Amino acid sequence: MGQGSGKPKAWGGRFREATDAAVERFSASVHFDRALARYDVRGSIAHARMLGRSGIVSAEDAEALVDGLRRVAREIESGEFPFDAAAEDIHMNVEARLHELAGPVAGRLHTGRSRNDQVATDLALFLRDAGRAIRRGLAELRGVLLGRAEEHLDTILPGYTHLQRAQPLRLAHHWHAYVEMLGRDAGRFADAGARLARSPLGAGALAGSTLPLDRDDTARALGFDEPARNSLDAVASRDGALEFLAAAAIAMVHLSRLAEELVLWSSSEFGFVELADAYSTGSSLMPQKKNPDVPELVRGKSGRVVGSLVTLLTVMKGLPLAYNRDLQEDKEPLFDAFATLRDCLQVLCGSLATLQVDSDRMREAASDPMLLATDLAEALVREGVPFREAHEAVGRVVAHCLEKDLDLGRLSREDLQAFHVAFPAGAGELVDLEGSLEARSLPGGTARATVAAALARAGQELEEEMARIEAEEGRAAETDR
Ligand code: ARG
Repeated sequence: MGQGSGKPKAWGGRFREATDAAVERFSASVHFDRALARYDVRGSIAHARMLGRSGIVSAEDAEALVDGLRRVAREIESGEFPFDAAAEDIHMNVEARLHELAGPVAGRLHTGRSRNDQVATDLALFLRDAGRAIRRGLAELRGVLLGRAEEHLDTILPGYTHLQRAQPLRLAHHWHAYVEMLGRDAGRFADAGARLARSPLGAGALAGSTLPLDRDDTARALGFDEPARNSLDAVASRDGALEFLAAAAIAMVHLSRLAEELVLWSSSEFGFVELADAYSTGSSLMPQKKNPDVPELVRGKSGRVVGSLVTLLTVMKGLPLAYNRDLQEDKEPLFDAFATLRDCLQVLCGSLATLQVDSDRMREAASDPMLLATDLAEALVREGVPFREAHEAVGRVVAHCLEKDLDLGRLSREDLQAFHVAFPAGAGELVDLEGSLEARSLPGGTARATVAAALARAGQELEEEMARIEAEEGRAAETDR
């Protein structure tokens, strides 16, 4: 047992004893929810203005509150705001500081409001900005990947299944796969953002207020479409944060796979790429080492973001309506996932932009004629042979080559016809590396023009996304004023 700070608490009157020091430490959140400071002040300014406009407080008092809150905002911006753990959370910190700066009028700010609707509002405002920032980061990475893909339209490498060489690909095609994944990730963040359109502010602790609050006014002022339609839902729900975390976890899994390929490809065994010095580290013991720490950390940090999603899902599960203090546990995983994903996007952008590609080495790995075995089977199909039969025949050709150490690509028509009479020509005429790529001109395929068109389309979509992000940033800056 220890003495608390003895500071007056917002819940004042009912309490005779100060909070125990351990409880004060245990329940304080300002060391992390300070990340919400600017949103908290923004919400408070909208609330104070509305209190004045609705005649709940006098026009002069409203003005004094707004002036004081603006001073608080400036202190937050400049880093001078005296965050105080004894004042528990960001909401009480802002209000306490307002008391110091504006005097007793500060006592009118919390009229018709609870920290429950306040924190839900702060969080929605944070999520809107964070989602947009992540979309920008995703767009930047897509831009880098597209640029590198365009550069490597004619770089050929083996595609893998089960990490066994499977069929040849263009490096452009390979990286475009990630552009598509990251595009869907951006879509998930945008969808989640669109569901943050209803303002919790005015929902009170759980049941609204007897005062004539103008919820439409604060909703509009904060850039929401309308007030939340149910006061309990408004304060008890965190699915906006869950959606953000789910989208972040999926995006991190995508980044982790891309990172894993950078790790593999930069090994001596593959030797496909080399990370720039600025994006690798050395070993403190082995002077020859150049380690892919950046992609390894991205791969590792994906576990952390997935963990954050699981943390919040587990916090929420089984909570009765409406607010419960458990909900304070929403913030650390959310902030951590946001910062982690943002940073991973940034370092991957740099890693990929500066990555050296060894096109010769990739092509050499793709030049194993075994990679064209499927094409050989399809040559038989074109002669009217059922695919299963063609597959079986080419399988025997492959076994024969492996056994006798022969090059599949050099087998003559006669050699091939020993396995199936329908082979119309020698392997050299039937299949070759470029031809194999070019023959796959179906949508989504590997032909040069097909891949180039897919890249162009992705570039177009990326431009549209950038324009949307910029328009939304403009609107956000507008409501921020
Ligand atoms: N710090 C709290 C949180 O993050 C704010 C809401 C507190 N509400 C309450 N009734 N104790 O959830």
